[in-house]
Amino acid sequence: MIRRHGSCPTIVITVALHVLSWLTWLNITVLRIYTDSRRFLSLSHLPRMVRLLPSFLLLAASVHNAVAQTQYLLGLGIADITGPVTETNMMGYASLGQTDSGLHQRQRARAFIVGETGNTANRIVFINADIAMGDTGIRRAILAKLAAKYGSLYTAQNFALSSTHQHSGVGGYLENLLPQLTALGFVQATYDAIVQGVVLAVDRAHASLKTGTLSIGNGTVVGGNRNRSPTAYLANPASERALYTNQGDDQDTTMSLLNFGADRGFLSFFAVHGTSIYENNTLISTDNKGMAAYLYEASVEPNAMPGANTFVAGFAQANVGDTSPNTLGAFCESPGQPFDGQPCQANTSTCGGTVQQCHGRGPGFRLDPYGFHSNTMIAQTQVDAAKSIMGGKLSPVSGTVRSVHIYLKMANHTFTLPNGTTAMTCPAAMGYSFAGGTTDGPGAFDFVQGDNSTSQNPLWEIVKGAVTPSPSAAQIACHAPKPILLNTGYATFPYSWSPDTVDIQMLKVGNFVMALIPGELTTMAGRRLRNAIRAALISQGVIDNSAYVVVSGPANTYGHYITTREEYAIQRYEGASTLFGPYTLEAYIDKYTSLVPFLADSPSGTPASDAAPPALQSSAISLQTGVVFDAAPIGKSFGNVLVDAAKTYTAGQTVSVQFVGATPRNNLRLEGTFLSVQQLASGAWKAVRSDSHPSTTYQWVRVNTILGTSTVTLNWTIEAGTPAGTYRIQYFGDSKPLIGSISAFTGTSGNFTVSA
Ligand SMILES: *[C@@H]1O[C@H](CO)[C@@H](O)[C@H](O)[C@H]1NC(C)=O
Ligand SMILES: *[C@@H]1O[C@H](CO)[C@@H](O)[C@H](O)[C@H]1NC(C)=O
Ligand SMILES: *[C@@H]1O[C@H](CO)[C@@H](O)[C@H](O)[C@H]1NC(C)=O
Ligand SMILES: *[C@@H]1O[C@H](CO)[C@@H](O)[C@H](O)[C@H]1NC(C)=O
Ligand SMILES: *[C@@H]1O[C@H](CO)[C@@H](O)[C@H](O)[C@H]1NC(C)=O
Ligand SMILES: *[C@@H]1O[C@H](CO)[C@@H](O)[C@H](O)[C@H]1NC(C)=O
Ligand SMILES: *[C@@H]1O[C@H](CO)[C@@H](O)[C@H](O)[C@H]1NC(C)=O
Ligand SMILES: *[C@@H]1O[C@H](CO)[C@@H](O)[C@H](O)[C@H]1NC(C)=O
Repeated sequence: MIRRHGSCPTIVITVALHVLSWLTWLNITVLRIYTDSRRFLSLSHLPRMVRLLPSFLLLAASVHNAVAQTQYLLGLGIADITGPVTETNMMGYASLGQTDSGLHQRQRARAFIVGETGNTANRIVFINADIAMGDTGIRRAILAKLAAKYGSLYTAQNFALSSTHQHSGVGGYLENLLPQLTALGFVQATYDAIVQGVVLAVDRAHASLKTGTLSIGNGTVVGGNRNRSPTAYLANPASERALYTNQGDDQDTTMSLLNFGADRGFLSFFAVHGTSIYENNTLISTDNKGMAAYLYEASVEPNAMPGANTFVAGFAQANVGDTSPNTLGAFCESPGQPFDGQPCQANTSTCGGTVQQCHGRGPGFRLDPYGFHSNTMIAQTQVDAAKSIMGGKLSPVSGTVRSVHIYLKMANHTFTLPNGTTAMTCPAAMGYSFAGGTTDGPGAFDFVQGDNSTSQNPLWEIVKGAVTPSPSAAQIACHAPKPILLNTGYATFPYSWSPDTVDIQMLKVGNFVMALIPGELTTMAGRRLRNAIRAALISQGVIDNSAYVVVSGPANTYGHYITTREEYAIQRYEGASTLFGPYTLEAYIDKYTSLVPFLADSPSGTPASDAAPPALQSSAISLQTGVVFDAAPIGKSFGNVLVDAAKTYTAGQTVSVQFVGATPRNNLRLEGTFLSVQQLASGAWKAVRSDSHPSTTYQWVRVNTILGTSTVTLNWTIEAGTPAGTYRIQYFGDSKPLIGSISAFTGTSGNFTVSA
């Protein structure tokens, strides 16, 4: 069944406009710029530039610092954003087969507010959400709700929606068509859960505002990441690479951290893909950054239920593009082949000529089939780094709080390179290697991997009549050397496949500047952008030599990848997914640095912005059917125990209880739980675990679609150190009758003992 949200644009008009823009394009001559890739934009000269700064600027900066503000209004909050944990496609790998079947850990949004103590209008709010990417549409919906509550306090200018870029969350919330193709289109429940949860996180942060100080530190994450396209990285100039041999070489091994106070929390930045948990897992989770946040928060408040903590640990994503948590490398899983178990062919990440059998391995490979052990280990490397930074010497933050935000139309954006030459970006297109996927998950959008497999996707069936139009000579020349597979910039049927307008934003907290990136910068691309912003901040006297710049994303909107021009020439997955052509990074460097003056203490004027992209949600297609009804088998009731726990357990064993279930889509139980492990204490049951503890899982299985029956299995793997005693497990469900309203029920296991 096809359901459209709101009014539907008439197909005739869409097609006509489409043809029109197509014809227009044919008349365009695209400026081609031939370049010397070795010499281009090498930033190795920047430190020298900094040294040569006029001394009066440094003097001015230090005078300014003497009166700078060091006290800030600080607020931190956390809230649940978990959409439907069953029968919904997951977002990240964008694999049609990855439909969720339960819950490992709830997804959360963590909000960090910093404001000036004097002028309350000068504040920023940074959201670190356990989602795959930010999105202009969902950001717009959140901002509308915040405006209704807070007036002009939290706005498009100072509100940043960043993601942990995790790949095990609930899908269907993105506005553009391409990411929806595998998610059966748009899923209202996912969207609503994220909007509602982010607003609640801001509410909580706002309610917690109080005066405090901030400090910055950094440290090394040991064994936390690995470059997944090292052969593309090697294309960067040797002189530039030599600058980073002590900082991870082809990876940024540094974690940067903004400390909000030992009793309040922190916001850290470190680059590693949220792909520790494999694509074949179907339990909703948070991958390594959400796990790191849980582990850190639980270590500070061991008795608080996950999400009920007041200390908020932010593990935000940085220049994630070519990073992988699969630190052992990529190997062939090719049973029966001579190359089984061998490393994949390096340049192409293939095994016997194809990508499908080449898989990255995390540090816990073979400890479980889905990567859960690797996930915890990669999370722990980040927790260890954050603890050592928090316990070490940090530098105080001082200065004003400022923000800047514009929309930038990246299709055909013309700008000037540092050497004075004019360059331009291109309307979006995906290269062939995009279809190959990565060693973290082959074939990111699997419908492009084989012509015949596309027919397995019902949404693709609807749109395939309007397969992306073949690229014009100008479009081909603009994207060269990328061979174009999907000409998405020209695909607007039934609505835009990928964004052509992105959010450009920077938040300044004293001498700490966060650049929010509408995509995934590779390691070197991130370094170039950070260095350029920092140099501009210093040379323009906005911040003195203490300027500290981090990048975070994919944030606000999803403009796919951003490689250096040298990496782009290699056309690995990241280069093929650099949407707007070879000058994508240069365009961003130009735009971010040009916005630096608006972060000054007394900025003048407002920055020029392109038009906001049109809202697409009203034209979004959803193929997901609603819950029809739930039923218990004859002679049973919802919540009845089908398979009970044993009588006694010891630590390390798994308690597993199966109940007569109902679909959890009836009630997401946001801020609540689908399960509770309870301990008998002084004659009363006390909840000691919820569905967000990594030791518990919730798994739902549809038994009979016609009869409406299903089961729920709750597991608890007893952690070492669990106190001996009497325990039970409760299941909280909600059933929907064929006629009538949804009602809650509870199921309870038998009592069992845990012995030491
Ligand atoms: C400016 O830089 C671009 C990119 O590296 C290069 O193609 C172009 O030739 C340069 N122009 C001049 C005048 O040096
Ligand atoms: C770590 O912090 C120090 C002190 O602010 C700074 O000099 C250094 O550049 C930072 N390291 C990285 C990799 O950013
Ligand atoms: C693989 O990549 C490296 C580094 O970019 C390059 O030197 C080498 O020639 C490539 N090998 C093949 C077979 O393409
Ligand atoms: C899941 O995928 C990983 C990586 O490809 C693989 O090693 C593992 O065997 C798969 N698990 C199952 C149960 O198939
Ligand atoms: C691209 O930019 C050029 C120069 O600004 C302009 O003439 C042309 O119409 C633009 N093309 C598209 C497709 O927007
Ligand atoms: C689909 O598969 C069939 C059988 O292998 C093949 O003959 C046909 O060419 C394929 N179609 C496309 C569009 O690749
Ligand atoms: C729950 O535990 C049972 C029994 O140990 C096991 O068969 C099942 O795979 C577990 N489920 C999950 C989701 O781990
Ligand atoms: C479980 O323990 C509680 C509290 O002692 C008791 O009331 C209840 O009867 C026990 N249930 C079973 C099935 O033994």
